Amino acid sequence: MNINIAGAGIIGTFFHAPTRDRLEVLENVLIRVDDAGAITDIHPAGDSMRTLVEAELGERLFRLPDGHYGLPGLVDLHIHAPQYPQLGLALDEPLEVWLQKYTFPLEARYADLDFARTHYSVLVADLLATGTTTALYFATQHEAATKLLADICIEKGQRALVGKVVMDDPAACPDDYRDESAATAVAETRAVIAHIQAHPKNGAGRVLPVITPRFIPSCTDEALAGLGALAEECGCHVQTHCSESDWAHGHVLQRFGITDAAALDSFGLLTRKTVLAHSNFLTDDDMDRLVARGAAVAHCALSNVYFANSVFPLRHALEKGVHVGLGTDISGGPSASLFEACRTTVQSSRMLAEGTDPSLPADERGRPNSAIDLVTAFHLATAGGGVALDLPIGVLAPGYRFDALAVDTNARAGAIRLFDETAPAAVFQKLIYGATRANIAHVWVDGIERTP
Ligand code: GUN
Ligand code: FE
Repeated sequence: MNINIAGAGIIGTFFHAPTRDRLEVLENVLIRVDDAGAITDIHPAGDSMRTLVEAELGERLFRLPDGHYGLPGLVDLHIHAPQYPQLGLALDEPLEVWLQKYTFPLEARYADLDFARTHYSVLVADLLATGTTTALYFATQHEAATKLLADICIEKGQRALVGKVVMDDPAACPDDYRDESAATAVAETRAVIAHIQAHPKNGAGRVLPVITPRFIPSCTDEALAGLGALAEECGCHVQTHCSESDWAHGHVLQRFGITDAAALDSFGLLTRKTVLAHSNFLTDDDMDRLVARGAAVAHCALSNVYFANSVFPLRHALEKGVHVGLGTDISGGPSASLFEACRTTVQSSRMLAEGTDPSLPADERGRPNSAIDLVTAFHLATAGGGVALDLPIGVLAPGYRFDALAVDTNARAGAIRLFDETAPAAVFQKLIYGATRANIAHVWVDGIERTP
């Protein structure tokens, strides 16, 4: 049953983590949402205003049934939309081989708009059903298919940021899948920005354009400089990959004699609205640079297992003040679920902390003080993504958008099994560790139910 909360209210128990390390349980609260989908007020049980608000809302008040819990919508801060057909495949090669052998040929197929429409429609519907209310997408190099991805997000009501991938270096990109020149790459990026901003059904700006150089190894200096200038001119979001693997990190060091983050900065590509995927090999100086610019990292823990040669020092980055959110990095990461991303984020941080080589003594095996907990991971998948994007999402408080989901902990086809847990913190842990698509009962973006 479709239930819209825009212009109405909802009563239930919600979990959110507005700050790192602290879970807030909003027990049996009433959340009121305005016609445009923003949260206006939240009333705890017993609040003196609550009865008045309940009376005012009357039939426009929806109650979450027993066993259902609300969460802020999940934010996927790094995902390659065209790679969805390859999910779970092609995980047997290092990054630089994987790109040429599997990924560029798959992405090249999106020149065919019928192929693009079919696959993008399945992806956006699946992500919404999995609880991803906001996604920061890499599309492909094609202008038309990128516009189409934005159209599909607008039609299905997902909050999304969509970028035409720029890859113009003939030495690094295939002849049949590359920008003709730096100038056409920048011109087509402008055309996609204009399309999204002028879209007649995108008046609220729920879908936004993103300047998207794939990564330094696939771009000429001219394209990077052109996109940096465009970022300054239009103030749009920027996304790229940064220092992902030994090879990618080494390429930039060799080409420019400075780190990837420093090189991106020199092209004007590090802004308050920049998201750098992976960033595993950031130095302390790089992290300081990100903090100074207000740029963020999209941590892709699962993909990093396959392609990064390392574990991102997440806790260190957080302690230095870097903005971080979580990404699935489909299809480098073989799961579309941000619940899974939360789990892998905790697990990989533990492996970094403890180390993995049993032939080493315990005190030399790992990098101490690297572990993060589940609440921190959940914070990053919600509020952290909102901060990274500079959007009012990921927190349930007045002024934020009502992007949310309801998880049914009793769904038989789901994987959550509650026995005698009553403490909210225990329910929360079982929920995050167990939730599958079958547990997700409702998904709202701007207060409108978005699942079919
Ligand atoms: N670096 C450049 N392109 C890609 C990509 O598609 N996936 C990942 N994981 N890294 C990249
Ligand atoms: Fe990626």
